[in-house]
Amino acid sequence: MATPPCALPLLFGLMFLLQGDPSQAGDTVAAGRPLSGGESLVSKRGKFRLGFFQPDNSSDHWYLGIWYNQISLHTTVWVANREAPITDPASSQLSISSDGNMVILDHRRSAVWSTNVTGVAPNSTVGVILDSGNLVLADASNTSVVRWQSFDHFSDTWLPGGKLGRSKRTGEVTRLVAWKGSGDPAPSMFSLELDPRGSSQYLLNWNGSEQYWSSGNWTGRAFAAVPEMTSTGASPLSKYTFGYVDGEDESYFVYDVTDESVVTRFRVDVTGQIKFLTWVEAAAEWVLFWSEPKRQCDVHAVCGPSGVCTENALPSCSCPRGFRARRPAEWLQADHTAGCSRNAGLACGGAPDGRQSKSRNEDRFYPMPSVRLPSNAQSAAAASARDCELTCLGNCSCTAYSYTGGCSLWYGDLINLQDTSGGGGAGGSSSSIWIRLAASEFSGTGNKTKKQLVIGLAVAAGSVAAVTATVLAAILILRCRRTRSLRRVEGSLMAFTYRDLQFVTKNFSEKLGGGAFGSVFKGALPDSTLVAVKKLEGVRQGEKQFRAEVSTIGTVQHVNLIKLLGFCSQRTRRLLVYEHMPRGSLDRHLFETSSSHGVLSWETRYQIALGVARGLEYLHDKCRDCIIHCDIKPENILLDEAFVPKVADFGLAKLMGRDFSRVLTTMRGTVGYLAPEWIAGTAITTKADVFSYGMMLFEIVSGRRNVGRPDDGGAVDFFPSTAVGLLLDGDSGGAVDGRLAGSADAAEVERACKVACWCVQDDESLRPSMGMVVQVLEGLVDVNTPPIPRSLKVLADPSKYVQFFSGLPST
Ligand SMILES: *[C@@H]1O[C@H](CO)[C@@H](O)[C@H](O)[C@H]1NC(C)=O
Ligand SMILES: *[C@@H]1O[C@H](CO)[C@@H](O)[C@H](O)[C@H]1NC(C)=O
Ligand SMILES: *[C@@H]1O[C@H](CO)[C@@H](O)[C@H](O)[C@H]1NC(C)=O
Ligand SMILES: *[C@@H]1O[C@H](CO)[C@@H](O)[C@H](O)[C@H]1NC(C)=O
Ligand SMILES: *[C@@H]1O[C@H](CO)[C@@H](O)[C@H](O)[C@H]1NC(C)=O
Ligand SMILES: *[C@@H]1O[C@H](CO)[C@@H](O)[C@H](O)[C@H]1NC(C)=O
Ligand SMILES: *[C@@H]1O[C@H](CO)[C@@H](O)[C@H](O)[C@H]1NC(C)=O
Repeated sequence: MATPPCALPLLFGLMFLLQGDPSQAGDTVAAGRPLSGGESLVSKRGKFRLGFFQPDNSSDHWYLGIWYNQISLHTTVWVANREAPITDPASSQLSISSDGNMVILDHRRSAVWSTNVTGVAPNSTVGVILDSGNLVLADASNTSVVRWQSFDHFSDTWLPGGKLGRSKRTGEVTRLVAWKGSGDPAPSMFSLELDPRGSSQYLLNWNGSEQYWSSGNWTGRAFAAVPEMTSTGASPLSKYTFGYVDGEDESYFVYDVTDESVVTRFRVDVTGQIKFLTWVEAAAEWVLFWSEPKRQCDVHAVCGPSGVCTENALPSCSCPRGFRARRPAEWLQADHTAGCSRNAGLACGGAPDGRQSKSRNEDRFYPMPSVRLPSNAQSAAAASARDCELTCLGNCSCTAYSYTGGCSLWYGDLINLQDTSGGGGAGGSSSSIWIRLAASEFSGTGNKTKKQLVIGLAVAAGSVAAVTATVLAAILILRCRRTRSLRRVEGSLMAFTYRDLQFVTKNFSEKLGGGAFGSVFKGALPDSTLVAVKKLEGVRQGEKQFRAEVSTIGTVQHVNLIKLLGFCSQRTRRLLVYEHMPRGSLDRHLFETSSSHGVLSWETRYQIALGVARGLEYLHDKCRDCIIHCDIKPENILLDEAFVPKVADFGLAKLMGRDFSRVLTTMRGTVGYLAPEWIAGTAITTKADVFSYGMMLFEIVSGRRNVGRPDDGGAVDFFPSTAVGLLLDGDSGGAVDGRLAGSADAAEVERACKVACWCVQDDESLRPSMGMVVQVLEGLVDVNTPPIPRSLKVLADPSKYVQFFSGLPST
C-alpha cells in the first residue's frame, strides 16, 4: 500500500497555516484540526476528495464520503456513515476523538460513526486521504503505521489497489454491498464477497445467503466463469493486472491499472450487478466494459416481492396488473426492495365484503402470457387447468398457478417473475402464469393497468407523511420543468426530458422493435401525434456533441427519409423521437408468410425500391453534409399508410462513434448486407450503402431472405447467386417472388436485377451511385449486363460463407 512519507503531516500543517483556505485543508484530519461540514480534504496529488455530500437533493441526508476530484461527474467511491446520515452538515464534523479514533460528530456532538479501533493512544493519530482513494487512520508520528483503512471496509466500490478477500485468522471478509437506491447509500440486499466457506470463488448474494452468481474458482489465470480475463490485445482488460493471492493469513484478489491515466472502478450496482467501468473524459461519462450477471433479470429478487422484471427495458421493474409499488418514492430511485403490493385485498384471507354475494366476490385469476415463472413453485396433483385453478382458489395463501401438463402453485409473494413478451427471455423458456386478484380488479373494462400504476404511485406517495412530502415536492418541481421543456425547441426539434418520454410512451410499455443500438417504443404526444421513441444504447458521446449531431440529423428532410421530431439527452440517457410509421418495417411485409397485410404487389415493390433509392441519393449527395447510412436492410425501411418507404436510423453511425462499426460487424442479421470493405477494414464510403441496397433489392424482388434454406434439402442457398445466374440466362423473371404468380412487369424485373447485381460488385468503383440507380429504375438510363461479383461466388458456397464473415475487424 502506498503511504506518504512521514514528513507529510507537518508539511501539510504548514501549508494549512500559510494558505489559510479552509476548503483546501490538505489531506489530513488531526486532533484539534477537524474537518467540518463545508470543508473537504484532497489527496496529495489531487485524485480524490473527502468531505460531506448529499446524494439526493430532495432529502436532508448527508454523508461523509470520498469521490473523484478530477472528473466532472460527482462519483462517490466510499461512504462512512451509510446507515447513519446526518442532517446538519454545517454543525457536524469529522474529527479525531480523544480515544484516537476517527469519528463523525453530528450537530449534538454525538458520534454517529467511528473507526472503532482499540489500543490507540490518545492524541497520537491522524486521518489521511490517499491518492489511491484509501482513507487511513495512521500514527501521527509515522503515517506508515496504519491502524484502520477504508480499503478494509468497502462500500459498493472496489478501487484499484484494494484487496477484496478473507482473513484466515479472523474469518472476516471484506465485501462490497450495493447502495439501496440511487440516492440512498444504505446497504441493500446485494453483495459481493469471497466464498466464506474457503473456496476461491467470488459470490454475488442476495440478503447474504441467496447466491445468484459465482465467478467460479480461480484457475491460476482467471476465474472459471470469467474466461474473458485471459483475453489479450483488444480487450480493455489487457490494461489491467490481476492476481488472486492465497496466502497464509489471508486470501484476496487485487487488481490494478498499468496505465495511471486510466480511471476505473468496480462496483456492485444498485441493480445487483457487478460492473467494471472506465471514465472516458471525451464523453464525460463512465463506460461499462464488463458486467455480471449479463442479464438484469438474473439478479435474485431484483424487482422485489411481486415485482416483474423486463430485460432490456428501462425501468426494468414494473408491477403486474392489480398491484402497485409498495414504496413509490423508493421505487422512483431504483430501490425495488419493497416490491409491489395489491390494490385490493383478496376475498379469501382478506376482508370479504359481506354485502356481496359470495360468487361475485370470489377471487379470480388474471393470465400473464410469456413469462419466466417465479421461483419456489410447488407442484400439486391436478388433472386439468381448471383443477389446478380450483386447488389454488381453495387455499387462501395461494397467489398464482400455472398449468403446462402439470400444476404449479405459488404461495405468498411471487419472486423472480419475468416478462419475456418483448424477447430477452432466459434460455427461451416462456410460460403463462395466472395471478390471483380480487374480483373488483375485473369489474372495469380492459386495459387500465398502466394508468392504475401511475395513479397508485401518486396516491400511495401522498399517504406517506412528512418524509415523502419532500420527495413529492421534488417530483413536482421536475414535473414543472417537464412542461416547460416540452415547449423548448432546438431548431425544428423538440427537446424532451426522460420523464416526458416515460409519460409519452406510457413508461415504455409498447415495444415496436429492437436492434443492436436500442429498442423502439410507441408513444403519443400530448396532441396525440403518434411517435416512435428509440432508446439508444451505448452512445459514448457527451451532451454537446450529441446535441450537435442530432440537430444535423434534424435538418435532413426528404419524403423518403423518416423524420426526426425530437430527442432526449439527460445524464447518460440518449433517446430519439421519430414520426410513427403505421405499416411498420419492410421485412415484415416481404418475409412474413402469415402476414395479414397480404403479399406486396410488384408495383408496390418497385415503388419502394425507387423510393429508398431516392432517400439514399438525398442522404449521399443532396444534403449539406454527406451522410453514409451504414445499415441499410429491410428492418430499417419503414412504410407509411400508402406504402411510401422511409429510410430509418440514418445518422446513427455518427451518433454512435467508434462503437458503431464494432457493433455493426458483429450484429446478427446485418452481416448479409455488409459490403466487403467492412470486413477488409478499409475506408467506408457511400458505396457501402449502395452494396447493402443491392442486397436488399434482391430480397425485394424475391420476397425472401437472401440466405435461406430450400424447403427440400438442408443446404443453405444464397439467392443473389441464383438471381445472377437467371439474369445471365435471360430469365430474370424466374427470380421473382412466386407468390406474385407471374404478375410482374418483365422489363422492370430485369432492370431491378441488373441494378442489384451492379450494386453488389466487389470493386466499389464499379458500383453505381444512388443517383444513377434512381435514373435506371426510373427507366431514364439503360444498363449493361453486369459481371458476376466474386463475393457472390464465395457466398454461394455455404462452407465459405462462414469463413468470409469470420475474422471481422475488432473495431
Ligand atoms: C444537488 O445540488 C447540488 C448543489 O446545489 C448540485 O450541484 C447538484 O447537481 C444537485 N444534484 C442533483 C441530482 O440535482
Ligand atoms: C463499535 O464497535 C462496537 C462493538 O465492537 C459496536 O457495538 C459499535 O456499534 C461500533 N460503533 C460504531 C460507531 O461503529
Ligand atoms: C489532546 O489534545 C487536545 C488538544 O490538542 C488537548 O486538549 C487534550 O488534553 C489532549 N489529550 C490528551 C489525553 O493528551
Ligand atoms: C515508520 O513505520 C514503518 C513501518 O512500521 C517503519 O518501517 C519505518 O521505519 C518507520 N519510520 C520511522 C521514521 O520511524
Ligand atoms: C471450487 O472449489 C471448491 C473447493 O475449493 C469446491 O468444493 C467447489 O465445488 C468448486 N466450485 C466449482 C464451481 O467448481
Ligand atoms: C434476510 O435474512 C435474514 C436472516 O439471515 C432473515 O431474517 C430475513 O427475513 C431475510 N430477509 C428477507 C427479506 O428475506
Ligand atoms: C395452504 O398451502 C400451504 C402451502 O402448501 C400449506 O402450508 C397450508 O397448510 C395450506 N392451507 C390450507 C388451509 O390448506
